[in-house]
Amino acid sequence: MRILFATGNENKIAEAREVFEPLGHTVEGLIIDGHRPNFDEPKDLGIEAVAEAKISQALALIEGSELQGSAILVEDSGIFLDAFPEWPGAESSDVERDIGLEGIIQRVNQSGERGTEYRAVAILSSENQVWKSQGVCRGTISNRPLGSNGFGYDPIFIPDEGDGRTFGELSNEVKNQISHRKKVMEGLSNLLKSPSR
Ligand code: IMP
Repeated sequence: MRILFATGNENKIAEAREVFEPLGHTVEGLIIDGHRPNFDEPKDLGIEAVAEAKISQALALIEGSELQGSAILVEDSGIFLDAFPEWPGAESSDVERDIGLEGIIQRVNQSGERGTEYRAVAILSSENQVWKSQGVCRGTISNRPLGSNGFGYDPIFIPDEGDGRTFGELSNEVKNQISHRKKVMEGLSNLLKSPSR
């Protein structure tokens, strides 16, 4: 199956490829009229609502074009701090831009609660069929940013399933074995009943 991933984030595309390509599927970014489409995201409603909004907008955009009928993949994800339920969640990228990783560490230090998790929701639609999956990766927030691999919150995220280093310090290969995105994409690939085409 040729999967068109509606995201502007190349890291996400690379992570999805790691899961789908060994199964015989291909993954590339969705491009319409030479551009990666932007979507209206109801962030106040959470990551699942955002993923649903993205898939309906993406399907509407390709209707009537040569891409109609293609398999479209969307994903929304965020980090959730145990000390602040549902926060920053769907607003992770905005909060990261506004207060930075140091601002997050400061709030976590003040709360005394370092537990956290990444969550992802992905939806795949192909030929009037729709599959949805969720993925979670538990961890703790580090005392300071470490490493430059990955993106976003990775320099301050220490996965429980790792060796005590942050995702920023771990290789992409290691992140891709245990991340929320690996889990959400794996969940989708398990739901795809028909053999790859
Ligand atoms: P989205 O592109 O709207 O789904 O926003 C995802 C945001 O959540 C990113 O910009 C990061 O701030 C955060 N995030 C989600 N997944 C990851 C990850 O794997 N590593 C680091 N940050 C992530």
